[in-house]
Amino acid sequence: MREADGLIVGAPNYFGDLCAEFKLFYERLLFQYLTYRKECISYNERPVPVLLISTSNAPVGMYSDLMESYRTRFETFIGPTTVLEVGATMQVKDYGKYDWTMFDGPSKVERRERIFPQELKKAYELGASVFRRWIAFRERNHAVCLNGVPLG
Ligand SMILES: Cc1cc2nc3c(=O)[nH]c(=O)nc-3n(C[C@H](O)[C@H](O)[C@H](O)COP(=O)(O)O)c2cc1C
Repeated sequence: MREADGLIVGAPNYFGDLCAEFKLFYERLLFQYLTYRKECISYNERPVPVLLISTSNAPVGMYSDLMESYRTRFETFIGPTTVLEVGATMQVKDYGKYDWTMFDGPSKVERRERIFPQELKKAYELGASVFRRWIAFRERNHAVCLNGVPLG
């Protein structure tokens, strides 16, 4: 991570939060930078951009507050962070096999075929644009500020 140009991380939503595997990575990644100092909360002298992608069964918007809290924390400890929420995913291939009365199987399949490819494209483009803007920013600004402290 200390040599990376950026971070793209994706995680499914499990029981109202991002999955355990993601949290394991996230907690240890951010914690190494935590100073516990009021004056400057982060030790990270080399911020890099982050693209955080989440998927959920629920429609987009259901977990926006959660994603905003991850966004601000990544931004504090890692660097400028963009979030992409992908909702209403197709959880199983054949909804006809299950008695899942909460879901409309055919509309899930239709969405997967029509919308999902667009979302994949959006994720790809967002990844590229986040890093393009960051490279341009780094070239314009020799010094970067993190938590109001200019870095050389
Ligand atoms: C253990 C578990 C818990 C889940 N909980 C939620 C949930 O609380 N909200 C939701 O929208 N989707 C929930 N889902 C659906 C997943 O978010 C969805 O299937 C997913 O984004 C794709 O992840 P997968 O590839 O692990 O299936 C859950 C799925 C699993 C397996």
